Amino acid sequence: MKLLHVDSSVLGTNSVSRRLTANAVADWIATHPGTEVEYLDLAVSAPSHFDADSLGFRMPEGATLTDTQKRENAISEKLVSQFLAADVVVVGAPLYNFSVPSQLKAWIDRLAQPGRTFKYTEKGPTGLATGKTGIVVSARGGIYSTSDAGQAAEHQESYLKVVFGFFGITDVRFVRAEGLAMGPEVQAKALEAAADDIRRASAEAANQGSAVAVA
Ligand SMILES: Cc1cc2nc3c(=O)[nH]c(=O)nc-3n(C[C@H](O)[C@H](O)[C@H](O)COP(=O)(O)O)c2cc1C
Repeated sequence: MKLLHVDSSVLGTNSVSRRLTANAVADWIATHPGTEVEYLDLAVSAPSHFDADSLGFRMPEGATLTDTQKRENAISEKLVSQFLAADVVVVGAPLYNFSVPSQLKAWIDRLAQPGRTFKYTEKGPTGLATGKTGIVVSARGGIYSTSDAGQAAEHQESYLKVVFGFFGITDVRFVRAEGLAMGPEVQAKALEAAADDIRRASAEAANQGSAVAVA
């Protein structure tokens, strides 16, 4: 089984999501021995934001690409292949200004490739990255999950659930630490809740039946 471990926090050793993704990956390996792990740190090596040069893979077939577009295409190809090869994707997703860090969005923009992670049919879109398990590790200063207003205000967990679903990942599990900026008591409870989530998130992978059959 292959696991892709992705971090995106800019807070380095002070990052809560980094600590929790590390715990989630360790727990996964303990319950699924033999898992191969690849690591991607988007705070260190994020693809650039979308621009005319990085949109090459969305240009019509046969279009002439500039050298820069070819180089950017190679980056997108590497990222989408890495993502497609993974059975389990663990994503560290801090809440920054009500959304995900822009480097995490830039990564997702490179994955959202027609013909690779989704396609449109007469009936609408179909995800092509099926059979994977997504584990989203969410770290938040405030509390959003317990009220309609909070849920409407956050565009981080809700966005990741939608976009992974669009790619065909229906098994998305959340590890959530929220209220981290609300004092030591709330913070301690948040970390306890996240530890429980991690234990639950390590349950059998979406593709475990076929993984075992192939082995
Ligand atoms: C730039 C920045 C923006 C933030 N914006 C929000 C926010 O909109 N809502 C919130 O509840 N917390 C916000 N926070 C708090 C973070 O969600 C919290 O610090 C969390 O631990 C971030 O994850 P990390 O520690 O892995 O970076 C923000 C923190 C930073 C550094």
